[in-house]
Amino acid sequence: MCGIVGVLGNHEVAPILVEALKRLEYRGYDSAGIATVNNGTLDRRRAVGKLVNLSDLLVHEPLAGKAGIGHTRWATHGAPSVTNAHPHQAGPVAVVHNGIIENFRELRAELAEAGIKFVTETDTETVALMTQMYMDAGADPVAAANQTLDRLHGAFALAFLFQGQDDLIIAARKGSPLAIGHGDGEMFVGSDAIALAPLTDRITYLEEGDRAVVTRAGLTVHDAGGAQVTRAVRTIQIDATRVDKGGHKHFMAKEIAEQPTVIGNALANYLTAEGQIALPGPGVDFNDIDRLTLVACGTAYYACLTAKYWFEQIARIPVEVDVASEFRYREPPIPDRTLALFVSQSGETADTLAALRYCKGKAARILSVVNVPESSIARESDLALPIHAGIEVGVASTKAFTCQLTVLLMLTLKAASDRGRLSADQLADHVSALRGLPALMSVALEQNLAMQNTARRLSEARDVLFLGRGLMYPLALEGALKLKEISYIHAEAYASGELKHGPIALIDKHVPVVMMAPRDTLFDKSVSNMQEVMARKGKVVLISDAKGLAEAGEGVWASIEMPPVHNAVAPILYALPAQLLAYHTAVAKGTDVDQPRNLAKSVTVE
Ligand code: F6R
Repeated sequence: MCGIVGVLGNHEVAPILVEALKRLEYRGYDSAGIATVNNGTLDRRRAVGKLVNLSDLLVHEPLAGKAGIGHTRWATHGAPSVTNAHPHQAGPVAVVHNGIIENFRELRAELAEAGIKFVTETDTETVALMTQMYMDAGADPVAAANQTLDRLHGAFALAFLFQGQDDLIIAARKGSPLAIGHGDGEMFVGSDAIALAPLTDRITYLEEGDRAVVTRAGLTVHDAGGAQVTRAVRTIQIDATRVDKGGHKHFMAKEIAEQPTVIGNALANYLTAEGQIALPGPGVDFNDIDRLTLVACGTAYYACLTAKYWFEQIARIPVEVDVASEFRYREPPIPDRTLALFVSQSGETADTLAALRYCKGKAARILSVVNVPESSIARESDLALPIHAGIEVGVASTKAFTCQLTVLLMLTLKAASDRGRLSADQLADHVSALRGLPALMSVALEQNLAMQNTARRLSEARDVLFLGRGLMYPLALEGALKLKEISYIHAEAYASGELKHGPIALIDKHVPVVMMAPRDTLFDKSVSNMQEVMARKGKVVLISDAKGLAEAGEGVWASIEMPPVHNAVAPILYALPAQLLAYHTAVAKGTDVDQPRNLAKSVTVE
């Protein structure tokens, strides 16, 4: 949430800052702004709404200078407006910020008492004003920034730029990620390495509590205790050219279509030629583990819920699953021999990271399943399992979800094999089902056009219900989340068996009910629930295979045909119609598919 960038360059930085912000826009798009120092003069431009508004403003009111900082905002304190947009400037200092300054009210009161006036409703302005206050009292920029940082509570990544200082950016990280990029006689600051990918692949990740003084000659870092430290420079592999829509109308469409390929990548990275599961690094022996705790947020949480069914049924390991924001404050006991597993596309989600830190020193092992191998969650785990989905830009997660599921299923198979719960034949059967997935996904994607029709009708609904049993229950939850976040249609999901315990009261002729029902052992039970819906005039969208549709499809409002699939991998395949349905419904409604209102991709505040 909120993207920040900084450049100490050899050329005009305004276009470079805007280009980098484009790559960070997934973090927030309420407003954007940049500040530069030009021959010592600090100035800024800000615009409300998408980044394109800032670009337009800069055409009419250009900003010169070879040093600058920029920001794309996801509002926390204060509505989206030009006044509340970053950079916040107070006299000789401009600040961009990602995170929340938790004690800003207290600091604001102190500044107000000293007669200092505020013009915004943001917590960030406090940082700029305090720095100015310390500078007015005689501190130099570095000392003033340090004195200010000493006063701040909360989670933040900050970059400071100063009047009269063409070769200085101060960067600080506490709770929110920050990367420093090394160029040739140039230096960069970014919320992540993706933002800096076209500029450099040499990255230093700041650690928790680090403060960095950045000049074109390099950087000096002090850790949370104030000691000067050296942080490694890593060469990272980010294919800058991959951040485009590849001919699709939206990133989400491209990312849905990529799934056969990226699932193939994930499989290739974990399956040996002999059909065994190979984990990277030291791996893990599940004979040393008695139970699992899975923690995540949003879509990644639904991946964990699915994995609970797998781990319990296939590997016979008890599993607890929780949303990170609840887990972190519940202070749950973590028995010995617990493996704690954190799932996160970005690897930076504040609640998931805090939950991971809670488990440190308590759980026997800490594993993560991440898409960004350099992320905080990956770096703080004993073992990080990359999902190999490639960069996911669409705010609604699609390919990361199916790759998370694929890696979690492979981990389940590894656990089951370690614990002697799977015969060689059973393992081979599951591995062959996994290997068949990319081809089945390609078949499922052929439903794309047919689905537009159903989606058009769905787009007129006010409420939609998703139902599923067993492995299809978490997927129903994911289907409902996808639909509501990009089409803004109210959607809820229930385990089909729960229907009679309340939600059936919602059913009438206006409510479409999406029924996820592959022909598995629970199919007949799902069909009974579907009949209960139809008896009350509910409009059923049945997603099943040809046999399932032939057996139970009579009288349904719409049907979506999936190829027949092995039970265990069905949720990975059935994620596709859920995604496509949401996508086409949103397109039919004309909403902003890739950047839905109020959302941001990387949730680095709690
Ligand atoms: C929904 C979505 C979110 C994320 C959640 C966790 O489409 O993308 O619900 O799944 O914010 O994010 P990560 O996986 O980055 O921890």
